[in-house]
Amino acid sequence: MKLGELRTVGVLGAGRVGTAVARQALKAGYMVKIATAKPVDEIAMIVEIVTPGAIAVDADEAAAADIVVAAVPLHKYRTLSPGVLTGKTVIDVMNYWAPTDGEVDDFENDPRTSSEIVQEFLAGATVVKSLNHIGYHELEEDGNEPGAPGRRALALAGDRDDAKVLVAGFLDRLGYDPIDAGPLTAGRAFQPGTEIFNGSHTAEQLQALLSAATESAHA
Ligand SMILES: NC(=O)c1ccc[n+]([C@@H]2O[C@H](COP(=O)([O-])OP(=O)(O)OC[C@H]3O[C@@H](n4cnc5c(N)ncnc54)[C@H](OP(=O)(O)O)[C@@H]3O)[C@@H](O)[C@H]2O)c1
Repeated sequence: MKLGELRTVGVLGAGRVGTAVARQALKAGYMVKIATAKPVDEIAMIVEIVTPGAIAVDADEAAAADIVVAAVPLHKYRTLSPGVLTGKTVIDVMNYWAPTDGEVDDFENDPRTSSEIVQEFLAGATVVKSLNHIGYHELEEDGNEPGAPGRRALALAGDRDDAKVLVAGFLDRLGYDPIDAGPLTAGRAFQPGTEIFNGSHTAEQLQALLSAATESAHA
C-alpha cells in the first residue's frame, strides 16, 4: 500500500478515541469503516449518530481497510484477530494505564513498550505507535493545515519505513505534523507519564524532546 492509494480507514473500537479518529478521518476525506466486537446490527444506529458518514462493519471487514487503527482498551488487545490483520499497517493508539486498565501481567512483567508486545501478538501486521498521546477531544480541535503557525505535531514509531510513510501521510491529512521517533521501541518516549504524552508540541519542540529521550536512553 502506497500513500497515494490510501482511501479506506478501518477503526477497531467505537469508543472515545475510535470515534474521534473516525470523525477526523471522515473530515479528511477518507472512507471510514468502524467496528467493535459486537455484531454490526448492534452498532449500526449508534455509528450513524456518533460518526455520521462512517460505515458500521464487523471487525474483520474493518481490518481489511487500507490502514487500520486499533483503538480498543489495551487489556483487550488479545481479542484483536492477528490472522485478518496480516499484511496490514496497524496504528496502535492504545496505552497501558494501570489505574484504569487494572494491572495486566502482559505489561507489568515485560520491560518492552506496550506496542512491542502488541506487535508480537499481531505478528503478521506492521504496528506503528501513534495517536496515543493526544486526548480524544483534542484530536478534533487541534488539527490544522500544513504550514499553519504552531501546528501541533504527533510522534510515530515503527519498525518499517513503508508503514511509517503511510501513517505519516495519514497524520498529516488529519491535521498534524508527523515526526518519526524511530523504531517501535522508541515509542517509550511518548508513553503515559512522559513529557510528550502530557503536553502539546510543535514539530520543533517534539523533535527536541524525542532527541533528548534518545540521548538519555543511550547515556
Ligand atoms: N481516551 C483518550 O483520550 C485516549 C487517547 C489516546 C489513546 N487512548 C487509548 O486508546 C485505547 C481506547 O481508549 P478509549 O477511551 O477509546 O476506550 P473505550 O471508550 O472504552 O472504547 C473501546 C472500544 O473498543 C471496542 N472493542 C473492544 N474489543 C474490541 C475488539 N476486539 N474489536 C473491535 N472493537 C473492540 C469497544 O466496544 P465493545 O466492547 O462494545 O466491543 C469500544 O467501542 C486505550 O488503550 C486508551 O488508553 C485513549
